[in-house]
Amino acid sequence: MPSFTPDSELDLLFSPSLIPGNVKSQLGADLHMRPLAKTDHSRSHLSVLAVLTSTPDLTVEQYTQAFETLRSCPNTYYTVVIVSRETDTVVGVGSIFMEQKFTRNLGRVGHIEDIAVDKSMQGRKLGLRVIQALTGISEATGCYKTILNCSDENIPFYKKCGFEKKENEMARYH
Ligand code: ACO
Repeated sequence: MPSFTPDSELDLLFSPSLIPGNVKSQLGADLHMRPLAKTDHSRSHLSVLAVLTSTPDLTVEQYTQAFETLRSCPNTYYTVVIVSRETDTVVGVGSIFMEQKFTRNLGRVGHIEDIAVDKSMQGRKLGLRVIQALTGISEATGCYKTILNCSDENIPFYKKCGFEKKENEMARYH
């Protein structure tokens, strides 16, 4: 079984100091929260996302290229992962991207996307911790609000995370 890889040995998407310390400290001692790493393809990142939606496997090259695309946009994309210290695999994940507006005195809005917790780890407040970390990053980077879309069945979860229902989602698939 692979041993746990510390942040100092990883190529990360953003500075780990942006993740609120009080959120990290509330995880179990068996878990660690950090920014997505360039090598998380090998730590089951995509398997965790598969609990959310269709997630066909990618080659390492495709994964690395997507990671570099995110990283090439400064102050915009933040993905956090929760890693099991025992297995060095990803067990929870979530992302936020920041939108620059012309309105609201050049305000910024945080958009939360792709929250997923491995089935075996659901119910341990990991989803809540991921949302707390992402909203903390949103606030710390100057966003005046954080928004997301979800299914009716996930509304109670997001209410527990402090969100309220506003307006409607529209979609057009291509
Ligand atoms: N209905 C009612 N309450 C819920 C639900 C639900 N579906 N899910 C969680 N809760 C409650 C929990 O009971 C807990 O309440 P408590 O504080 O009173 O004990 C609280 O919400 C926090 O729950 P967590 O333990 O943090 O939830 P978990 O770690 O299981 O993560 C998640 C929740 C992310 C929805 C997980 O079940 C999951 O991965 N589901 C499949 C993928 C998914 O639907 N992701 C969200 C898509 S929406 C988006 O990405 C923007």
